[in-house]
Amino acid sequence: MLKRPIESTGGLARSLTLLLALVALTPAARANDPLALYLTWQQDPTTTMTVQWHTLMDVSATSLMYRPLGETTWQTQSGAYTPFPDTPRHIHAVEITGLDPNRDYEFRLPGYSDTYKFRTMPADSSQPINFVVGGDIRQSQSRYRDMHDQVAKLDPMFAVIGGDLAYDDGRADRVNNWHQFFDAWRDRMVTPDGRLIPMLPVAGNHELTGGYTDSNDPNAGRTYFFDLFKFPGQPGPVAMDFGNYLSLVTLDTGHFVPVPEQNEWLDETLAERRERDVDHILPIYHIPAYPSSRDFDHRRITEVRDEWTPIFDKYDIDIAFEHHDHAYKRTPRIRAGEIDPTGVLYIGDGAWGASTRDVHDPDEAWWLDEAASVNHVIHMTILGEYRLLQVIDINGNIIDEYGFIPEPTSAALLLAGGLSLFARRRRQSA
Ligand SMILES: [Fe+2]
Repeated sequence: MLKRPIESTGGLARSLTLLLALVALTPAARANDPLALYLTWQQDPTTTMTVQWHTLMDVSATSLMYRPLGETTWQTQSGAYTPFPDTPRHIHAVEITGLDPNRDYEFRLPGYSDTYKFRTMPADSSQPINFVVGGDIRQSQSRYRDMHDQVAKLDPMFAVIGGDLAYDDGRADRVNNWHQFFDAWRDRMVTPDGRLIPMLPVAGNHELTGGYTDSNDPNAGRTYFFDLFKFPGQPGPVAMDFGNYLSLVTLDTGHFVPVPEQNEWLDETLAERRERDVDHILPIYHIPAYPSSRDFDHRRITEVRDEWTPIFDKYDIDIAFEHHDHAYKRTPRIRAGEIDPTGVLYIGDGAWGASTRDVHDPDEAWWLDEAASVNHVIHMTILGEYRLLQVIDINGNIIDEYGFIPEPTSAALLLAGGLSLFARRRRQSA
């Protein structure tokens, strides 16, 4: 069991250490489901949703019917389909816009009798917002499916995947990895009340042949990633803004775009969001700056640390999510390459379903407060400007947690208590 520090005050999460016996969630694929079905976002998640699915049919049009849950009149929205290279599949995508925030909708796909549900994100964070962040999903088939089940029980509003989704490496002989990936996502990433969990994918080295822009592989850069996911601005960094309360700043750690080429974009993106006073600005990327397992001086790790952490420091970023090392780690707060209570907390390191690696001993690695060879995802809950991180292992246990309370006033403590209670109830109801 790892340590569980709480910044600024005690008591925020002391009641969250119970290891709850959770009911197994094993939804079965329905015979009439499409070959793949997943949600993502191209614009503000408070008012839009993008639905994607795969078929074998040679259809000439792509559309769906949707309506707010409880209403009787269907509306139709059309989209487009593209071929799934090296497969007989078609990839369909429909973006629905003009939706109400924080509302449940249902939709139906042409040729399929089942009805599916999604929920738009709230317009603000005056109510708890919860989501998961994890990476390095599919390397071990049984593990990632088990982790999916634990994630679904958390009833998250969405999931961010910090790279290395299907380990296909852009290779035609591994395209079946994607089929298995989408089978599991469709069948298991469904909340207890039947909502599909949207995903926001970030590129990692296993999304393409060669892994990096400087690869010498003759097929370097070959990928299915951009065919499969509608996501704005790719290839390259993307900022996904949720109203004015949350910005996910996803970066490409040298896979499709060299790391230094994103510095100016990163500086401008963080500056603009600080200007707008966004409460939660979260960089998320694949290769860690502060590794749990790999060599601290590895050239790709050093590059991320040298190029981007000074920009995080400049804009007083609180938390950065890292992946790729197939273990769990939490750093102390670090500024300018030294432990500093005003610095950034780096947390990750990508072990959703991947086989875990040995970790550095935190007693001998100054940049690690915690490290463990364990499959996990990070469950984050925010409420106003407060946030709680809970690290969930493959059995649903909370193995680490971390609370952020900027001002330990009595009002802040009251909100923090509410956040803690919310998180506990959410788990107990699963
Ligand atoms: Fe990786």
